Amino acid sequence: MKIIGISGSLRKASYNTSLLRALISLQPQGMEIEPVRLNGISVYDGDDEKATGKPAAILELDQKIRASDGVVIVTPEYNFSIPGGLKNAIDWLSRGSSPLKWKRVGIMGASDGPIGTARSQYQLRQTLQSQEAIVMPRPEIFVSTAHEKFDAQGNLTDEATLKRLNKWLKAFADWVEKKA
Ligand SMILES: Cc1cc2nc3c(=O)[nH]c(=O)nc-3n(C[C@H](O)[C@H](O)[C@H](O)COP(=O)(O)O)c2cc1C
Repeated sequence: MKIIGISGSLRKASYNTSLLRALISLQPQGMEIEPVRLNGISVYDGDDEKATGKPAAILELDQKIRASDGVVIVTPEYNFSIPGGLKNAIDWLSRGSSPLKWKRVGIMGASDGPIGTARSQYQLRQTLQSQEAIVMPRPEIFVSTAHEKFDAQGNLTDEATLKRLNKWLKAFADWVEKKA
């Protein structure tokens, strides 16, 4: 089972990219999560699209998503919402036929705050609905107070979160395989 893992954060020491790394380290047998970062993608501009088409990074991501069985998006929360970089990537992907259409998608996120990206995840669900993506309803993962759950090297050290990630991965594998 091939899964594309997208981090919505661009920074190197990102908790969300670390969370994606933790997911990869726990991936069950038969699942392969390929991590993708969204650095260096220009802001969507219809004139640029007309003149030069989609950015190379978007064309590459589009192909990877099409060839995958599912997508995991690990998102931060910026100002109670989805980070602009992630929304921008989805805006680019949406042009023409979206590779997210009918794609099985799982979402989660980590933030410094007390509700662990709940607001941005619910806004991401709404945006993914516009793509006709099929987003796993639950279980949900909201990693709150992330600064207490990762060590200085970005390793997820919180036992309860690790346990929840394992359960989530099992549920996601079943969801992608459309098992009851
Ligand atoms: C512009 C900006 C807005 C933010 N807004 C929120 C917010 O609304 N809610 C929240 O929980 N954290 C917010 N934060 C703090 C982030 O949770 C924190 O920076 C987190 O580390 C970002 O994810 P990352 O580590 O994956 O980059 C904000 C951070 C930035 C830079």
